[in-house]
Amino acid sequence: MMTELRKRCLSCTACPLSRTRTSVVFGVGPERCDVVFIGEGPGQQEDLMGEPFVGAAGKLLDEMLSIIDLGRHNCYIANIVKCRPPNNRDPLPEEQDACIGYLEQQLSILKPKIIVCLGRIAAQRMIRPDFRITRDHGSWTERNGVYYTAMYHPSALLRDHSKRPDAFSDLLSLREKLQVLQIHP
Ligand code: URA
Repeated sequence: MMTELRKRCLSCTACPLSRTRTSVVFGVGPERCDVVFIGEGPGQQEDLMGEPFVGAAGKLLDEMLSIIDLGRHNCYIANIVKCRPPNNRDPLPEEQDACIGYLEQQLSILKPKIIVCLGRIAAQRMIRPDFRITRDHGSWTERNGVYYTAMYHPSALLRDHSKRPDAFSDLLSLREKLQVLQIHP
């Protein structure tokens, strides 16, 4: 199922980002997965490699996951948009609208119990439009049996080390939620 979806996504031309991309960055991870991380869109390294979070932010994400004994192989990692926005600008609302169906279909295949949004763009799209990452990071929202949270985007943590203690507590809160829900990824 995921294979067919990936195939369709790889040939997508639904928005102008398809004209400037090198690769479609579909997402990686097991086909059924309890924990999904969602970023905003591919950066330069991801565009070149075709895989999410493989650049500097991805290295930090791996380190963050290892703090709570998660590895990228036992989570699913995807983005709101699958093609790189030029110069790493925020994906436009119309680009998000054109792409979000792929993520929705990925989630209906994966059936995660926990969705972790990385940064404002993903949080506003997946949790609520007025989500403010500085105010609301680390909070939990339950919808249809799925638990949503958001933490700072690893790129923000690379730029601003003062946000790292907050990111650390959000990771501990994620670990606690995994324990409470008896998820052993
Ligand atoms: N930033 C994102 O939001 N996603 C990636 O895949 C890489 C960097």
